[in-house]
Amino acid sequence: MTFTHRHLLGIEHLRPEEIVTVLDLAEEYVDLNRAAQKHSDALAGLTQINMFFENSTRTQASFELAGKRLGADVMNMAMQASSITKGETLIDTAMTLNAMHPDLLVVRHPHSGAVDLLAQKVNCAVLNAGDGRHEHPTQALLDALTIRRAKGRLHRLNIAICGDIAHSRVARSNIILLGKMENRIRLIGPPTLMPAGIAEFGVEVYDDMAKGLEDVDVVMMLRLQRERMDGGFIPSEREYYHRFGLDADKLANAKPDAIVMHPGPMNRGVEIDGTLADDINRSVIQDQVEMGVAVRMAAMDLLARNLRSVQGAA
Ligand code: NCD
Repeated sequence: MTFTHRHLLGIEHLRPEEIVTVLDLAEEYVDLNRAAQKHSDALAGLTQINMFFENSTRTQASFELAGKRLGADVMNMAMQASSITKGETLIDTAMTLNAMHPDLLVVRHPHSGAVDLLAQKVNCAVLNAGDGRHEHPTQALLDALTIRRAKGRLHRLNIAICGDIAHSRVARSNIILLGKMENRIRLIGPPTLMPAGIAEFGVEVYDDMAKGLEDVDVVMMLRLQRERMDGGFIPSEREYYHRFGLDADKLANAKPDAIVMHPGPMNRGVEIDGTLADDINRSVIQDQVEMGVAVRMAAMDLLARNLRSVQGAA
């Protein structure tokens, strides 16, 4: 089996064949999730704890459902963001949980690197459900599965990632994954929302939607992450929508069969036109949600197999 990791902390650590292993297994779970009987015993007897130090609706629900469908005992901990902003406290929390013998720990945290740190302190498998602006590996994997199913392949595609790149862990994980799979990546957004040193990622950068979208196969929109902004990054939402919001007119620059993606939650009328987001002929936003459950099932299944083989060898 070509997936030997103990944790899933970032796309950064995965080889292309490991990415394919996750996606291939996820395909099987897509079928299971569409069946009337949605249960498997892949995680039977294992304990999964979801620790979300940041608000989340879809990611937490997706991980919870994924664990339950695989037969794990799943616990959600509601973490108060205010009480955990110190590194020390995070480690204390981790040690407390560790003493309860979980097998899988799913963690979202507002600080980049916090999940990696936690993984060093516990004995179980840790899955990063988003850490600061750093990585959100299961989001990039579910996006990859959505693209592969819609386009029939995951290489040599022109892919535009648009909007608030600077604050986005979704963008970062996607840039790494799609780059590893040899796609051509364009980033489109205002210069104030481009991260420093972006040229090193081997991407093309545009600040004009019409030019940047020319001939692309995939248009990935990002939420304007106002909670991560501490100053005037954009003149106004109206102006932002006018220049960078995706609508049918701007999309007309892309290939006629280009798909539209968004990780959610969406700001309709800010980064994307609501009608376009709902257009099932162009938008795959609901497919992304569906693929999310399947990809998380695959990721947890693979990590659990590795856990068992380590335990078996001990
Ligand atoms: C993303 C996240 O939390 O990073 N959402 C998600 O996981 N579905 C993107 C976002 O919040 O805009």
